[in-house]
Amino acid sequence: MTQQERLENIPKLHEAFKEHFRIGAAVNPITLRTQSELLQHHFNSVTAENVMKFESLQPEEGRYAFADADRLVEFALANDMGVRGHTLVWHNQTPPWVFESQDGGAVDRETLLARMQAHIETVVTRYKGRVYAWDVVNEAVSDKSGELLRPSHWLDIAGEDFIGKAFEYAHAADPKALLFYNDYNESVPEKREKIYSLVRSLLDKGVPIHGVGLQAHWNLEDPSLDEIRQAIERYASLGLKLHITELDVSVFRFEDRRTDLTSPPEAMLARQAERYRQFFRLFREYSRHIDSVTFWGAADDYTWLDHFPVHGRKNWPFLFDEQHRPKASFWSVLESANA
Ligand code: GLA
Repeated sequence: MTQQERLENIPKLHEAFKEHFRIGAAVNPITLRTQSELLQHHFNSVTAENVMKFESLQPEEGRYAFADADRLVEFALANDMGVRGHTLVWHNQTPPWVFESQDGGAVDRETLLARMQAHIETVVTRYKGRVYAWDVVNEAVSDKSGELLRPSHWLDIAGEDFIGKAFEYAHAADPKALLFYNDYNESVPEKREKIYSLVRSLLDKGVPIHGVGLQAHWNLEDPSLDEIRQAIERYASLGLKLHITELDVSVFRFEDRRTDLTSPPEAMLARQAERYRQFFRLFREYSRHIDSVTFWGAADDYTWLDHFPVHGRKNWPFLFDEQHRPKASFWSVLESANA
């Protein structure tokens, strides 16, 4: 049986949830090929895993490299999928030139903001009308107790209003695009409150922000369902849209660094299916606020978790196995669409 024939008998995930939210996947130039049929069958939104990050799009000042990002957008349009753009301003995967002056020292604030503006304007304008939502600023909030914003070159040089500026530049380039603040550990109570107060203060200043992205890099035990519910309620109380932006369910807790598994034990897969069922029930319960759920990948043959936090340790975080066959997690998610 070809993969096409196998897929024909399997309900499409995005159709099952069409009344509720889009179903997305992060893709890269390789998975666009190796997972193409699976993507076309189950997903109606895509996000670039890397090719829309600053270092990919503008590796040197004024030299833009759009080929891979263009291909992704063309794939999406050809298959009636939405594109979530990821990401315009981040402390990672941003080339050093952005923060350096000609003499090799740190650039001044005005120049840095001008570079940020040029980048955002060029990128957002290119994909205007084709990328419907952008993660404008990614991970600006600190994980450290007592510290609101994460130290970064953006913060050190431009000051805390680099965040608001990024949204203003993006909005000016495409007034119709939905603009998101995106972060991880979004359900940890202390960080949740920091994200909430950052976004609250942006809204109070009149910054054009339309949504909060919950990355949702979760696992078999953490965060608890209650913590996730509280996070959703807290962010929803801002009156903004919520997108689940990078969902995966690691079979290992974050502290668990064991490397002895070569395939996932049944008990783990059953627990994962239960977690996915609970998550999607919750997403449905709050689907008035949540209008997109994106996985950070599509099937277990490719996941960044194979190299994080333990390099070279296989993980199995998705609804489809390494051969793209539905796992118990897929069927429990599907049931929660119809329950
Ligand atoms: C963060 C970023 C993503 C990606 C993952 C790890 O969540 O937002 O772009 O880099 O880390 O792959």
